[in-house]
Amino acid sequence: MSQTRDIPGASPREILVTSALPYANGPIHIGHLVEYIQTDIWVRFQKMRGHACWYVCADDAHGTPIMLRARQEGITPEALIARVAQEHRSDFAAFRVGFDNYHSTHSEENRHFANLIYSRNRDKGHISKRTITQAYDPVEQMFLPDRFIKGECPKCGAPDQYGDNCEVCGASYSPNELKNPRSAVSGAVPEQRESDHYFFRLGDFEPMLRDWTRGGGLQAQVANKLDEWFDAGLQEWDISRDAPYFGFEIPDHPGKFFYVWLDAPIGYMASFLNLCESPHGRDAGLDFDRFWAKESTAELYHFIGKDIIYFHALFWPAMLHGADFRTPSAVFAHGFLTVDGQKMSKSRGTFIKARTYLDHLNPEYLRYYFAAKLGPGVDDIDLSLQDFTARVNSDLVGKVVNIASRSAGFIAKRFAGRLSPTLADPQLQADFVQAGESIAGAYERRELSRAVREIMALADRANQYIDEQAPWVIAKDPAREADLHAVCSMGINLFRILIGYLRPILPGTAADSEAFMRIEPLTWDAIAEPLLNHEIAPFKPLMTRVEPAHIEAMLEASKEDLSTTAPPPAAADESSKHLSGQPIAETIDIETFGKLDLRIARIRSAALVEGADKLLKLELDLGGETRTVFAGIRSAYDPSDLEGRLTVMVANLAPRKMRFGVSEGMVLAAGPGGKDIFILSPDAGAQPGMRVK
Ligand code: MSP
Ligand code: ZN
Repeated sequence: MSQTRDIPGASPREILVTSALPYANGPIHIGHLVEYIQTDIWVRFQKMRGHACWYVCADDAHGTPIMLRARQEGITPEALIARVAQEHRSDFAAFRVGFDNYHSTHSEENRHFANLIYSRNRDKGHISKRTITQAYDPVEQMFLPDRFIKGECPKCGAPDQYGDNCEVCGASYSPNELKNPRSAVSGAVPEQRESDHYFFRLGDFEPMLRDWTRGGGLQAQVANKLDEWFDAGLQEWDISRDAPYFGFEIPDHPGKFFYVWLDAPIGYMASFLNLCESPHGRDAGLDFDRFWAKESTAELYHFIGKDIIYFHALFWPAMLHGADFRTPSAVFAHGFLTVDGQKMSKSRGTFIKARTYLDHLNPEYLRYYFAAKLGPGVDDIDLSLQDFTARVNSDLVGKVVNIASRSAGFIAKRFAGRLSPTLADPQLQADFVQAGESIAGAYERRELSRAVREIMALADRANQYIDEQAPWVIAKDPAREADLHAVCSMGINLFRILIGYLRPILPGTAADSEAFMRIEPLTWDAIAEPLLNHEIAPFKPLMTRVEPAHIEAMLEASKEDLSTTAPPPAAADESSKHLSGQPIAETIDIETFGKLDLRIARIRSAALVEGADKLLKLELDLGGETRTVFAGIRSAYDPSDLEGRLTVMVANLAPRKMRFGVSEGMVLAAGPGGKDIFILSPDAGAQPGMRVK
């Protein structure tokens, strides 16, 4: 395993590393960046150690959401994915995520491997055909994926529930149990239609997968999850979709396409082949088979989020094995990002796009903060904005950069920029070098928070050294010129070691620091060699403090983005376009209408509901009587905006028991959902309790 292979002096390892391929229908956000930054740090570390480490990624360009989004924008899917690819590339570059290659799953290399892997599995009998019944949109003439069907929950009756589980009562069901189902694309009532589908027989691979799981390449939490899945039984996996679909047509089945998740991981191979065939890869003598053939001894690692473990730890190794390719050495899963303890939220402005962050803050800050929080497991990580500010300011600006700025001035002014020929404290230097092995071990095991802790302990020692030596005092004594020189040179040398250790995390700051010290890009081995009798450049500030005002501005801009530029998710969009043209319901007589008891209500209080993303708990005053109502309007309203205002409620609706309590009525609102929910208000003068007729 990797843990034991990083032996100093051993021959260089050959390592291929991937991050999950981001979907090509939306921008990169700071949640994604947890993964790309984590992977990039690990790769940069391996490269510094002298290993032949290659990092590839690509856009995941296929599937129904991408097809529909393109249609909605009035462009071809090809034009959409080309535009998004540019945006993704420039975001990653700005965060210094240093892919060796960034490709697309909509590429000839990927078509080649998708066909190859499919046909090899088919020839060995691992593909079967079955007829399934599926929801079909007769207007759009397409089969509907679960997330494009909505209706009322079969258990609690909550309206506007997507797919196969209810956000209100938590029930899970099959999408055809939804009451009054509608296509989210056209608003039409879906029909049930039959179609032939192709399935990958995952169960054929159970013995192989059990072995692979025990191979030591998986985190304990992931291995446990797999055991649960084995116990539940491995189901056949539906790998085909009907036209219209944006993807690859299955070679021997015209009109059928590979499901996006079939060709997505194959994109790792496609990107790597594309690298091998590029000038960069050819110069390095990269050979595809050396990494992917069954007998390959190269290491292969996939960094992924915990939501896509099933695809990477079951389907992917099985498909590879069935097609006579090697399987991954390990899959490294990470948790999800929360901001200030909550899921990223568009209304709070914490759904922060990479681009919006870059407009306001230095990417090095976020790289450092994520590193300081990331461990080797799948726990979620929280970005606390206050802690972010405090940590970056105290650790990076206050400790690390400070060491250089405290030493550099005297070197420039008194010694013409030249460092002393000897070290003032060889023991301290040796201690710093010695600490490197433990730090390297932490990086290797992806214990980034531990690496950061150990590096910051060294930074404290370096500052303590300078405090004790007090160069500003020595400087006043003309007889101690040599001491001053040695102490300040020592300071620069300690700074240099720290920058070496931080280099995988802070590539930009490291490059600026190397320019300041006039040295080559640091490798891990080079760190041990002190910098003596060497001329450095005049010091320029390497990093400025995080300003809380910039964070505020970023949050504000994230809220603005939402209403001006960011379109809501494809499904909601499509429905809003067509549903306003939804036919008027069946005619009723006045008596039927009279059965509805609508009342003016004052919203006395509104509160978030723990565990329910879409809900607000409202206390409604009906002029004497109080009702509790759970309303699915959280995506559009902040509780504080609602308190005190008047609205209209259905007062005689049968109470409904929900997971969080009993809902005693319903508040009236219009709109397709998401940000576009509009509750009703009466004209001025209406009083709580008045009947609406
Ligand atoms: N396209 C698939 C992956 C195919 S890999 C063969 C996909 N794309 S994604 O854009 O939704 O996510 C890309 C990666 O970012 C995934 O590993 C996912 O887990 C990760 N993250 C997306 N949002 C995240 C957070 N909020 N927090 C941490 N990681 C997150 O899944
Ligand atoms: Zn329900």
